[in-house]
Amino acid sequence: MKYLVVSIKGGVGKTGIAQNLATYTDAQCITNDLVVNANSGIIQLEPKKRSIPIKFCANVPVVMDFGASYNNLDHKLAHAVKLCNVIVVPTLTDARSLQATIDTVNLVKVADKPIAIIINNFTSESKLKQAKDYLTDALGRLPIFTIRTTTLFERVAKDGCDWFSKVHQVKGEYQLNKTRVAHEQVYAAITALGGK
Ligand SMILES: Nc1ncnc2c1ncn2[C@@H]1O[C@H](COP(=O)(O)OP(=O)(O)OP(=O)(O)O)[C@@H](O)[C@H]1O
Ligand SMILES: [Mg+2]
Repeated sequence: MKYLVVSIKGGVGKTGIAQNLATYTDAQCITNDLVVNANSGIIQLEPKKRSIPIKFCANVPVVMDFGASYNNLDHKLAHAVKLCNVIVVPTLTDARSLQATIDTVNLVKVADKPIAIIINNFTSESKLKQAKDYLTDALGRLPIFTIRTTTLFERVAKDGCDWFSKVHQVKGEYQLNKTRVAHEQVYAAITALGGK
């Protein structure tokens, strides 16, 4: 299975979510980010190459973490859209991010692949509800999942893809473990969208 995590907006959680989803699905995470944390286990694609290397195109599990430019499906992103089974668009709850999410969905929906939105890094239930209503009004009934603000992301940045196994082995991490379970539910729902 192949997943594409994409947004034209920076800082919405693409890389963190892609990395977690890759861990959850036992996939290789690849990115078009220009800066990649060396411990992350994420493979950085060569910026100059116009397509995704052939070894990731075969029938292997891959999560693609892609920034996108406004209004423009570049060659490599078009390739990613074509390869993937499910598209995931993370968003924050502020107006600019929501607009960017709508633009991103419109950019990638050409392929008719299942698209899920993750409202990420929120703390306020009222902002969450507003965001959900806004996106549903603009885009119709897409699956919308939610991930709260959590220190688990710092943990992922620190421990790389080992976050998953490490969290429950360390004592006193009840809260983190609860978050991990919440993440798992989101990733399970996303993998279900891909079917078999
Ligand atoms: N749910 C969350 N809780 C806490 N921090 C978060 C959450 N989601 C993202 N962050 C933090 O927000 C920052 C941006 O996340 P990330 O790098 O994954 O976004 P991105 O969309 O890949 O950004 P870029 O466009 O720069 O590649 C990171 O510091 C990350 O740890
Ligand atoms: Mg990133």
